[in-house]
Amino acid sequence: MQFYIETLGCQMNVLDSELAASALIGSGLTPASDKFDADVILFNTCSIRRHAEDKVFSALGRLKTWKDKKPYSVLGVIGCMAQKEQKNIFQRVPFVDLVLGPGSLDTLAAAVHQLLDEKVSGSRQAKKIAVSLDRKVNRHNDLIESYRLFNPERTVKETGTIKDIKAPKHASLVRIMFGCNQFCSYCIVPYVRGPEQSRPPGEIIAEVQSLVRQGVSKITFIGQTVNSYIYQDGGKTAKLADLLYEASNIAGLEQLDFVTGYPKGVDDALLQAVRDLPAVLKHFHIPAQSGSDSVLRRMNRHYTAAEYRELTDRIYSAIPGSSLTSDFIVGFCGETDAEFEATVDLVKYCRFRNSFVFKYSVREGTKSAELYADDVPETVKKYRNNWLLEVQKTAGTDDGACQSCRNRYN
Ligand code: SAH
Ligand code: SF4
Ligand code: F3S
Repeated sequence: MQFYIETLGCQMNVLDSELAASALIGSGLTPASDKFDADVILFNTCSIRRHAEDKVFSALGRLKTWKDKKPYSVLGVIGCMAQKEQKNIFQRVPFVDLVLGPGSLDTLAAAVHQLLDEKVSGSRQAKKIAVSLDRKVNRHNDLIESYRLFNPERTVKETGTIKDIKAPKHASLVRIMFGCNQFCSYCIVPYVRGPEQSRPPGEIIAEVQSLVRQGVSKITFIGQTVNSYIYQDGGKTAKLADLLYEASNIAGLEQLDFVTGYPKGVDDALLQAVRDLPAVLKHFHIPAQSGSDSVLRRMNRHYTAAEYRELTDRIYSAIPGSSLTSDFIVGFCGETDAEFEATVDLVKYCRFRNSFVFKYSVREGTKSAELYADDVPETVKKYRNNWLLEVQKTAGTDDGACQSCRNRYN
């Protein structure tokens, strides 16, 4: 029996698709090269903007004919939309069989097999849902238990089986932390990926060693706020810099980088590690989101534009030849022309290698959806989006060579 995974969203999902494929192959399924040959189709979904969700609903709708032709097949929605939308997915697309959130990925293979079994033994209506607890109303420890980390042993040859994975076979993503505690007012991630959980350093280093033994030479450490990585064990504390030093000692590992950074908590130890370790890319992706203090306050970002500028000064002066990339949201609730101009000024000042610009999209359940009106007209959002990209082109330093920038979002 064959499976197919379609991946949307950020590197978290790219990695999760790889892990899901590993688990499904381990359970006896084989990867399909054509989607319509598959008996199991999974959509690994993203909720970051409305557009990402709309794309999934229309893609699911287009699978009706496939589903009618293969009544024993399994159609599943995994990833962030599974956690956010839960039963709504069954309501909107009744022929979906499985909804499984990011904190339940460890149960994916068993759930798929159970559904396949139930279907062949006559229960065509079989459905399954596995999601984590609601972050708004549950206790920390219960939440952590409901967002289980899933880091099975991977074999590199599987990387080629998942649509949309652009990484070459000698490059791998390694998750160092799960979830997010920042609660930026516009962002759905803390609600769909749960509380921050840093993995034990020993486990991370063992995973890197195993990948290097399989021929991987480039590793990207990933986390939503990768510089908040912290693991305490007994009297010992490990931070991102410690991981970089330890991974750099692994023979055969040629390149190491990390995404995504948060503008607070970039400590000197991290700058020193990036400066001194030859394998570590002299590059930081640290989204600023806006250059206006009032917008940053409404976004609940906990820093000012001046502090962000100081951070870039610190990085450029501590690490000769270093480069920076950023994300921006334009048209955030109440953003005035003057507030947008402040973002333009920041882009001019910071000499980013590249900037990713997004139009604000209301996410139900977030603070900004609750507190502020989405009152910037769509045409103004588009105009500011294009304008900021133009400014970035003129002020930026991208020479087209930065692979990690191009792989950032799909
Ligand atoms: N953890 C990372 C990135 C998270 S999502 C960080 O904190 O920077 C990637 C990008 O999507 C964000 O940096 C932000 O620019 C954008 N984004 C998040 N929520 C959004 C929303 N509601 N509307 C538009 N863009 C959004
Ligand atoms: Fe979202 Fe903010 Fe967390 Fe990034 S740091 S994932 S933007 S809440
Ligand atoms: Fe999207 Fe989830 Fe990543 S919402 S951006 S796939 S963590």
